[in-house]
Amino acid sequence: MCGIIGYVGTSIRSQFLIQGLRRLEYRGYDSAGLAVHQSDRFYLKRKIGRVIELEKVVDDVPLQTGIAHTRWATHGGVTEENAHPHLSFDQRVILVHNGIIENSKQFQTKLKESGIELQSETDSETLSHMIANLYSGKGPFGEDIDLETKGNPLESIRQCLRLARGTWGLAIMFVDRPNELFVARNGSPLVIGVGDQARYVSSDPHAILPFTKQVIFLDDGDIAHVVQDDVQLSRLDGGTTNKLIETLEEEWGDGEKGDFPHFMIKEIFDQPEAIRQCLRGRMVHDEGMAKLGGLDMEPKDFLSLSSVTLLGCGTSFHASSVGALAIERLARIPARAEIASEFRHRNPVIDSDSMFFAVSQSGETADTLGAIREIQIKGGTTMGIVNVVGSSIARSCGRGVYIHSGPEMAVASTKAFSNMISAMYLFTLQAARVRTISSAQGQHFCSEFQEMPEKVDRYLQKPGILDPIVEVLAKAKIIFFLGRGFSAPVAAEGALKLMEVAYIPCVAYPSGEMKHGPIALLEKGTPVIIIAPNDPLKHKTISSLHECKARGAIIILIHTQGDPIASEGDYSIAVPECSELFSPLLTVLPLQLLSYKVGLALGRDIDRPRNLAKSVTVE
Ligand code: G6P
Repeated sequence: MCGIIGYVGTSIRSQFLIQGLRRLEYRGYDSAGLAVHQSDRFYLKRKIGRVIELEKVVDDVPLQTGIAHTRWATHGGVTEENAHPHLSFDQRVILVHNGIIENSKQFQTKLKESGIELQSETDSETLSHMIANLYSGKGPFGEDIDLETKGNPLESIRQCLRLARGTWGLAIMFVDRPNELFVARNGSPLVIGVGDQARYVSSDPHAILPFTKQVIFLDDGDIAHVVQDDVQLSRLDGGTTNKLIETLEEEWGDGEKGDFPHFMIKEIFDQPEAIRQCLRGRMVHDEGMAKLGGLDMEPKDFLSLSSVTLLGCGTSFHASSVGALAIERLARIPARAEIASEFRHRNPVIDSDSMFFAVSQSGETADTLGAIREIQIKGGTTMGIVNVVGSSIARSCGRGVYIHSGPEMAVASTKAFSNMISAMYLFTLQAARVRTISSAQGQHFCSEFQEMPEKVDRYLQKPGILDPIVEVLAKAKIIFFLGRGFSAPVAAEGALKLMEVAYIPCVAYPSGEMKHGPIALLEKGTPVIIIAPNDPLKHKTISSLHECKARGAIIILIHTQGDPIASEGDYSIAVPECSELFSPLLTVLPLQLLSYKVGLALGRDIDRPRNLAKSVTVE
């Protein structure tokens, strides 16, 4: 979703802002723009489409203070006028904004009444005019009242934001303050990078990581005055605040494609190493135990747990569904997965012995953050299962488990799914070892877990013959995905992946549900992908397979290597053998590869599918 990059420091070139925007591209956007301070004016360029389109029109100008933005449309269509930065009517204030100003309609009306001609349909533009009015000593809507905001940028921003309802990550420049940047945060992440005679601002630490690892994370309600060798923090209410400079952890892996044509396929192939990274140092084989230091839990804490709820959206919800099955199965703690956006709005009952995990790759998903807030308001315990270190979810939970996938850049999530499951399984082992399983059973779990990266790799090296299946899927009007037990969330994940990347309608059901309605959609030749690894539910899934086959469906069967049920599929894909619990780490692989290949066959924008964003920071 929208991204911000800002710079104040010794003189470099405008190209720097383009480089910054490139590192934000993976988040998904539909237009981009930048502004550079130039003595008595701003150099401003905006363009719809990709950053490369912007790059074509940006001149190589000196840069000492500048801001740039990638926009994912919310208020108003994808047009150059709606792209950021937004310049005030008097050309004195310019800003970029992430988030949504909920009462901007009111602002627009008042600004128009005051004679200001709005240049865009956006909520963000209103803030630039209001701040400019305040900075010139008038009321926010041009009222002739003498305010102490005159010539005071921080006070002008404060007065403006006190009127605003909603969320913001803001970076603002004033034309008469050539070497200063102002930033503010409320519900939309912002981080300030501390360099040598330079300060960087971004909505995403990944964008500034090549320049510095020393960062200051802003909290909601913070405002900062940033100059090349200093950062002055204060609060929206006028109070003061102090923050430590934190050092960003070194991530394994990189955010570059290397020899792969797309991030998605690179990240699929990252999975064996990503799972290894997640397990590293976290299992104690001799004791048949796992240790997740970030949870800071004693054995007695596991004994008193009454339930576990895992909250997430999209892929994170599907991984949570797998995790909930494992926790309940092995640790005998009632566990469920919930869609964060639903949970937060249903006035949930929070029990003090329950544990709530917020599961998120980006750590910035607004719906998941909202669910955490709701739980915290009600006195519940929240922990994060997060990939991005230092992200808002990680920080607002305080405790949790980093999944260590390395940077995931493709919008369609792949390696984060596997690593979320792996992190949840480590928790499962730790809880189960305290509550239910013996040391021998724990050791068995550790041994099998340790073999999984090699099995994932083995499958990826020999994925089976996929091209004829790709041909069938690429022509389909609709595709079904069926599975039971641990394979039901895998079916849902497979359907999500193919929809995201290939734009084909996909329907996923626990296979027993097929006959209760969805089967009405089956026609001769409809592809049905059935996930039936060698587990106790396999024979029941095969009954569903027969029901579909009898109605002319084309069956694509994902099964365990060497299983004779292979002959039941029109096309069959074998994955290495493993226990039921670990099967999602293998059965998801062919689904990821098929999605990638079908997307490719249909000429889709694999890494940045239309309308989607990597990190959804609005509700
Ligand atoms: C977006 C992405 C999905 C992702 C979901 C949750 O919708 O397009 O791929 O699964 O957000 O993201 P999170 O970062 O919270 O895991």
